[in-house]
Amino acid sequence: MNSASETSALESDFPRHEALVEERLVFWYFCAALTFMVVSMLAGILMGLQLIRHNPLPHLEILSPGRWRMVHTNAIAYGFLANAFLGIMHWVIPRLTLRPVLSRPLSYFIFAAWQFVVLATAVGILLGQAQGVEWGETPVWIDPLALLGLLLVAINFGAPILRVKGPLYVTLWYYLAALVWTFLTYAMGNVVPEYFVCGSSAGAVGGLFIHDLVGLFVTPLGWGMMYYFVPILLKRPMWSHGMSLVGFWGLAFFYPLQGIHHFLYTPIPMFLQYGAVLSTIALELVVVTVIINFVGTLYGTGGAVLRNLPLRYFYTGILFYFITCLQCALQTTLTFQALIHFTDWVVGHAHMVMFGVFSMWQLGVMTYLVPRILKTEWYNQDWCEWHYWASTAGLAVMAGDLILGGLFQGWSWAAMQPWESSIRVSIPFWSVRMVAGLVMFAAQLLFVLNLYLTWRKSRQLVPGTESSSGFVAA
Ligand code: HEM
Repeated sequence: MNSASETSALESDFPRHEALVEERLVFWYFCAALTFMVVSMLAGILMGLQLIRHNPLPHLEILSPGRWRMVHTNAIAYGFLANAFLGIMHWVIPRLTLRPVLSRPLSYFIFAAWQFVVLATAVGILLGQAQGVEWGETPVWIDPLALLGLLLVAINFGAPILRVKGPLYVTLWYYLAALVWTFLTYAMGNVVPEYFVCGSSAGAVGGLFIHDLVGLFVTPLGWGMMYYFVPILLKRPMWSHGMSLVGFWGLAFFYPLQGIHHFLYTPIPMFLQYGAVLSTIALELVVVTVIINFVGTLYGTGGAVLRNLPLRYFYTGILFYFITCLQCALQTTLTFQALIHFTDWVVGHAHMVMFGVFSMWQLGVMTYLVPRILKTEWYNQDWCEWHYWASTAGLAVMAGDLILGGLFQGWSWAAMQPWESSIRVSIPFWSVRMVAGLVMFAAQLLFVLNLYLTWRKSRQLVPGTESSSGFVAA
């Protein structure tokens, strides 16, 4: 296909929504997200090397692996996942509500402010200013700015959603709730343990915070996105709208009750620990309804997953989601916790959720949207396939390796062996993690290169019509 017909084919397939969607900003968010992902992965590699006793940067406090570990997790959560979600919401919300966001200048301001907050957090952590709250390490002076940013995000996206007359599609339920929950969760986790409570009470709030960050920020934005893109790509509605709502309300009701399941066997009162275990079991049932709904939607068109790359990303993520939920069912029992607590089982689980599920979904959406935003096919389609396979294989090996390694660590501790022997047992697993991590990292670099060359190609497509940003003019 030549360039001109390629452009017009894409444009006729996808009617223009320029009046509603600020496509350039969606693309900028994707670029920012991928930049932070590369930084985060470099930090993960540094920490991983330290664990196999090959720290390439010893004796430098500012580059110490403990600090880079926090940069790794913060940059992935707030730099990669959040940036990608914000970009995708800029695409989805105006289309579903048929209204633009409240203010485009505000959108650009939020974009700049968000990058400042994430960057300042990384620098603050490296300078030793981290706050002593897991996932809330953002230095205290940045917290008010981050909260203000979240409030502006809620206002900017909330306005078009609240103006919708009539029933809301399930994606908008998830989005609206996430806008409110994320603000409240961030405020709770970063402010309450710092200024108001201490000891095991602070532990309970910290547990709720880390859990709600996944459950009330990442999960609703992730599932909301899937409820939008899966039916579009499959060209059929969700199998059951009623079940979609069961999933939403089940999440809203049960998720906030579970935070303490991260701190089983701690001095937090046992009735709270049992309560968290029970509500986790209840949520498992809710999660099954969501997965059944997505599998039901695919029923009869399973081949599409093999042919269509973004769909493959989505359903691979759903498969990993199913596996992580199975793990949760084990992890939430006190018997199993006794074995895996503090082991690499948890780190394997965390990578499977964050990369195997949510990042896979976002990478699938990027693979789908970039050609639509730049109005040209990917520079190299094969590289997109390589990106998928290397990411999936790398993650599967990393997660499987850490989960298995965690069991060996747990057995070593349960057998009362000396600490050093559990380290000896772990080294081969940590070495395999490095290999898998490098494969995942190489895959993301290939994706970034492909994105850059696609952007360059889009500038050359129709001479004289591209805007200064490289986007083909309408
Ligand atoms: C180059 C690839 C990667 C490598 C080498 C790597 C390595 C690491 C290491 C060494 C840790 C610390 C483990 C510990 O303290 O024992 C860690 C933690 C973590 N990483 Fe990665 N990582 C990589 C990619 C990613 C990606 C892409 C994500 C998410 C999308 C991610 C999410 C996390 C999370 C959530 C934790 C915290 C786990 C916990 O505290 O339980 N990592 N990673």
